[in-house]
Amino acid sequence: MLLRGIISSPLPSLRLQLKPKLKTRNVVVSSQTPTNATSYPLSISDEVLESRGFVLRRSADGLNLDDLNGVFVAVGFPKRDPEKIRVALEHTESLLWVEYLRTRRPVAFARATGDGVFNAIIWDVVVDPSFQGVGLGKAVMERMISELLEKGIVNIALYSEPRVLGFYRPLGFVADPDGIRGMVYSRKNKKNKNK
Ligand SMILES: CC(C)(COP(=O)(O)OP(=O)(O)OC[C@H]1O[C@@H](n2cnc3c(N)ncnc32)[C@H](O)[C@@H]1OP(=O)(O)O)[C@@H](O)C(=O)NCCC(=O)NCCS
Repeated sequence: MLLRGIISSPLPSLRLQLKPKLKTRNVVVSSQTPTNATSYPLSISDEVLESRGFVLRRSADGLNLDDLNGVFVAVGFPKRDPEKIRVALEHTESLLWVEYLRTRRPVAFARATGDGVFNAIIWDVVVDPSFQGVGLGKAVMERMISELLEKGIVNIALYSEPRVLGFYRPLGFVADPDGIRGMVYSRKNKKNKNK
């Protein structure tokens, strides 16, 4: 999922909600949090990924923020101030990245912010264009979802660009669950209203 800087441009007002694949309970954004979703199936193991030269990292240790910025830019996200990225990562609940062993560089990344108990929002889902289409995005997302579910967090949301909806749907995300619509604050609209 995408975070353009600190939402520097209006994101699609599209909130997606996770339907865990195992022990599925549909979560309504405004409802009490169910507590029985604890696991999520992985389509590829860490070992197989490693045999292909990719290592899953679950903390920011060893993550070069300039390299990460490079991946953001390569997929079309705006380049960000590394210091702001560092602060954002400090306030991040869960973080996953894939290191390509040959170069030691990050080639896939995702992170989630949240309250640690009820809710999480996934941001900055990116795969380096040279490594897209080989399952890294799915591998990162599956582990992110699994980690959040294991913490008991089942209200998991993200913003999706329309062209990526087809990537998120098979992972269990639905748009407008039970008619609930996401909204984002838009300074542009606020200014227009005040005219
Ligand atoms: C979207 C993105 C994260 C997907 O990562 P990826 O590593 O290329 O995707 P994967 O190889 O893991 O694909 C997993 C599955 O999703 C499908 N898929 C991937 N991108 C898709 C898309 N844009 N639309 C529909 N399906 C897609 C794949 O075909 C694959 O299907 P399969 O499991 O049936 O084989 C990656 O393309 C990317 O970084 N894009 C640019 C940044 C971006 O748009 N991020 C999301 C912001 S909301």
